[in-house]
Amino acid sequence: MIHSFTDTPTSRAQAPVVRTVADLRQAVAALRAEGRGIGFVPTMGALHDGHLSLVAEAARDGFAVVVSIFVNPAQFAAHEDLSTYPRDEAGDVAKLTRAGATLVFCPGVDEVYPPGFGTTITVDGPSGGLEGDLRPTHFAGVATVVAKLLLMVRPDRVVFGQKDAQQVAVVRRLMRDLHLDDVQMVVAPTVRDDDGLARSSRNAYLSATERDEALALSRGLRAAQSAVAAGERDAATLEALARREMEAVAGLRVDYARLVDADTFSPLHRLDRPAVLCVAARAGTTRLIDNVPLTPGTP
Ligand code: PAJ
Repeated sequence: MIHSFTDTPTSRAQAPVVRTVADLRQAVAALRAEGRGIGFVPTMGALHDGHLSLVAEAARDGFAVVVSIFVNPAQFAAHEDLSTYPRDEAGDVAKLTRAGATLVFCPGVDEVYPPGFGTTITVDGPSGGLEGDLRPTHFAGVATVVAKLLLMVRPDRVVFGQKDAQQVAVVRRLMRDLHLDDVQMVVAPTVRDDDGLARSSRNAYLSATERDEALALSRGLRAAQSAVAAGERDAATLEALARREMEAVAGLRVDYARLVDADTFSPLHRLDRPAVLCVAARAGTTRLIDNVPLTPGTP
């Protein structure tokens, strides 16, 4: 059921939820008929302040905001946490309503991948290395669902978080390659807890001890950032600074600390262009990723 979209967030009980592409298209058409631009935020739910910051970005210029909640099976490997991934649709819709979202799209798996579905999008270049090495099918799953969601919603603007920097690079490449250049892509900064931990739906898995250990990721990134501010440009030195903080914590297993080109995600020897220092580690069974954008001119 679709309600009026002109209500202010505080004056209505819940943002309306649609579950089919047909209903989504009808609701988006109604918003466009009201003269609204359409901002879009794709998510997998279990929403936190990081996600909600993307809603605020999407809403700029008076845009209506469509948020999708879909735990995309195609981006999880068989051994990963698809079945246990946190799900709380009612809580998410309440948070989105408060954050000012206009419409929530919660499709079932069959709506997104109907029987006989046979198209997969692979993005070369930034899908390789780092997360791509450890999760070989992950970015094809992300690229396929993001392309599908963009074609379902057809927004004017789509917003992603810097938290998943490699995903940003993959989607940027995808949007260029598929001529989705009429959709504005906005990348919002990583939202962190006060102690530096990057907000993540997977933080819900962490015990108190593991959460403490997890702080080494952002600590390592800050150490590298300070070194850059002091003039350091050597990639190996910056990576070692980040790695040292993480390796000092017995409970963490470090997957990588790597300086890469922000656009291509190829490894860099020197910080001589816009770059991202990416780290990944496991605390118990929980995988954590974090990053900091760095430029040679970073003060
Ligand atoms: P999900 O992990 O739910 O994240 C949805 C969006 O929120 C992504 O753009 C992500 O980068 C952003 N985000 C997560 N944590 C953030 C934080 N602490 N600060 C700012 N933004 C943050 O990423 C996905 O879902 C999926 O891969 C998806 C793009 C929806 C495709 O299935």
